Amino acid sequence: MNTPTLPPTAAALSGRHVLVGITGGIAAYKSADLVRRLREAGAQVRVAMTEAAIAFVSPLTFQALSGAPVRHTLIDADAEAGMGHIELARWADAILVAPASADFMARLAGGLADDLLSTLCLASEAPLCLAPAMNRVMWKHPATQDNAQRLAARGVHLFGPASGAQACGETGAGRMLEPMQLVDALGQVFASERLAGRQVLITAGPTREALDPVRYISNRSSGRMGYAVAEAARAAGARVVLVSGPTALPAPAGVERIRVESAQQMHRAVFDRVASCEIFIATAAVADYRPAHPAEQKIKKHADRLSIELIRNPDILAEVAALPKGPFTVGFAAETEELERHAREKRKRKGVDLIAANQVGNGLGFDREDNALVVYGEHDVWDLGTADKRELARRLIERIADALEKRGTAP
Ligand SMILES: Cc1cc2nc3c(=O)[nH]c(=O)nc-3n(C[C@H](O)[C@H](O)[C@H](O)COP(=O)(O)O)c2cc1C
Repeated sequence: MNTPTLPPTAAALSGRHVLVGITGGIAAYKSADLVRRLREAGAQVRVAMTEAAIAFVSPLTFQALSGAPVRHTLIDADAEAGMGHIELARWADAILVAPASADFMARLAGGLADDLLSTLCLASEAPLCLAPAMNRVMWKHPATQDNAQRLAARGVHLFGPASGAQACGETGAGRMLEPMQLVDALGQVFASERLAGRQVLITAGPTREALDPVRYISNRSSGRMGYAVAEAARAAGARVVLVSGPTALPAPAGVERIRVESAQQMHRAVFDRVASCEIFIATAAVADYRPAHPAEQKIKKHADRLSIELIRNPDILAEVAALPKGPFTVGFAAETEELERHAREKRKRKGVDLIAANQVGNGLGFDREDNALVVYGEHDVWDLGTADKRELARRLIERIADALEKRGTAP
């Protein structure tokens, strides 16, 4: 028998963690081949089954094919002592439920978490892909169609179903896609994430430099731009660590946040993590100077004049850019005048790969929802236009991905 060759998109699966979910449908026998193909493509596979699925195929088959224990019960003290269900949900870079029964789609559409697989789907932030497989009448039923639409509107990927002969003897739409077609479709999902698998370290927000135990020097940065960049990098498939100065913003979903106050703390947090990151994006408005001798007690207002001696803070971005074999570096320049000249000069002086420059002052830049950015590389200039910070962050991530691809460092 000829072994079918993997589609070119399968390359995007290499090293990825794929959680295969199996529900109670006759097509479950094809999932054994799917698991094999995913592993051939270099993915690490774990399998979770519904109770109905194990009436169709044996967990032992999938244990042998995936090389890992198969889970099917939610309330399982022994299994939870190993890789617990939340850990498994976090482990997944993608969840592919194949076959996805009509019943399972209804449970997902309703947000139920009444068994292990539906709980995993609800507890995971990874892309969720479903390969519906059912009798043609079940598929075209308004309830199933309604559920499929609701799931698609939430960003769930629906692979198929195909049309053709069905196990029940009928012909029509409802067949599960073939394993190779599913490998191809999942590969496309990963390939569309331009920073898939990349480690990205981002700084955001202001820093606070203590004058005494109750007072500090800071700036007007809200952190919104950095948080938006963290969210956009995560959406592009990156693993994101966000080192954040004090802000009132919630941590973006799926992003690990490390809170700091001062420039020195930010410096330490960045250097703790920088060795494992491939892209460093410095959006934080780090104070250039800090009080040389912060008072141990609250400063009293005795004197008519008070001088505060300031000393230079470490330049986090320049230090990261100077690292031998350091990450791809992206800095931000907020300027009140001569934007292009200052931005280009800053890029060169600090030795960073890209500088995203924005005009501040006169109501522009800080503490606002929108912004205007121009990105300068050594040879390229991209005007990202004026937009909401989240949209600008998305455009910036696209340019970073372009620059990395041009450099030939695609994963
Ligand atoms: C022999 C047999 C075959 C079935 N095949 C399918 C199927 O292909 N697709 C489907 O949606 N349901 C099918 N069902 C019904 C499901 O097994 C049933 O809805 C079950 O509740 C699904 O549970 P689960 O979604 O938790 O796996 C079949 C049932 C039987 C008895």
